[in-house]
Amino acid sequence: MVRFKNNIGPFIKWVGGKQSIADQLLAFFPKEFDCLYEPFVGGGSIFMATEWKNAAISDVNGWLIDTYKAIRDDWKQVADLLDNMPNEKPFFLELRTKHPNDYTTHFERAAAFIYLNKTCFRGLFRVNKKGFFNVPYGEYNRRYYDPGNLKRVGEILSKVEIFQGDFELCLSNATEKDFVYFDPPYYKLGGHSDFNRYTPDQFKEAEHLRLAALCRELDQRNIRWAVSNSDTPFTRELFQGFYATPVSARREINLNPKARNIQELLFTNYKVQTRTVELLEQGELVLA
Ligand SMILES: C[S@@+](CC[C@H](N)C(=O)[O-])C[C@H]1O[C@@H](n2cnc3c(N)ncnc32)[C@H](O)[C@@H]1O
Repeated sequence: MVRFKNNIGPFIKWVGGKQSIADQLLAFFPKEFDCLYEPFVGGGSIFMATEWKNAAISDVNGWLIDTYKAIRDDWKQVADLLDNMPNEKPFFLELRTKHPNDYTTHFERAAAFIYLNKTCFRGLFRVNKKGFFNVPYGEYNRRYYDPGNLKRVGEILSKVEIFQGDFELCLSNATEKDFVYFDPPYYKLGGHSDFNRYTPDQFKEAEHLRLAALCRELDQRNIRWAVSNSDTPFTRELFQGFYATPVSARREINLNPKARNIQELLFTNYKVQTRTVELLEQGELVLA
């Protein structure tokens, strides 16, 4: 078992989060690059795993991105608000009736986001068409946030560029020296798109095609990229002509234990070399 020297973890639980396989993925990233771009940042387990020279993160989920900005601007304000939010069902239900736009400051929005995510059932994030959070209360009698971790996240975010928007919109400044890691909602075998709960919008075949087209364009610009996705005939066809490396994945949020250990692919436009030993030698990864 290895872990990252950074010792920072996501402050939310996110469907499709890469925390359990971050060590495998990082070992498959290129050895050197200037800026890590993560256009589907979600819970942020990859960019939090280690210290990058430069990083730019984005996601289409505005509430999530506001939360990152609030923690970057003043993590302590967010923590102080969380300290006054009891993990009790009546409080949860009351908070859930608020729309994300009802909050006066982005600190309040961020605290509500973290609170709802960490106290709701199975740590899901799901909103209805109107943008209201609609997951039931989780009844978990445990601490739902760690101020020390939030502080460290705030410190690393101070050096990171943060954008809200579609994955196509944040890469215009990327250069040949940079690297892009795409972690979209996965395509599910059987034709349905998986994990479409992050926003009211869905990630369908058309979006996967759009992503593959963008990857081809980046390839022409000599920008290196890696894309995580499920191993299906459709995804293999999307990235035909590029490299496909198997990654064994463990899905946290899945009621069927047999489906928790599945194989997924990392598509890349560069030849992958496993750098686990090297990262261990450099002290980036440490044995836990
Ligand atoms: C699999 S999750 C990323 C998980 C992340 N790597 C982690 O470790 O937590 C996919 C993310 O894509 C975002 N997303 C969905 N559609 C998008 C789009 N069109 N553009 C940018 N982000 C999008 C979702 O909000 C979600 O956070």
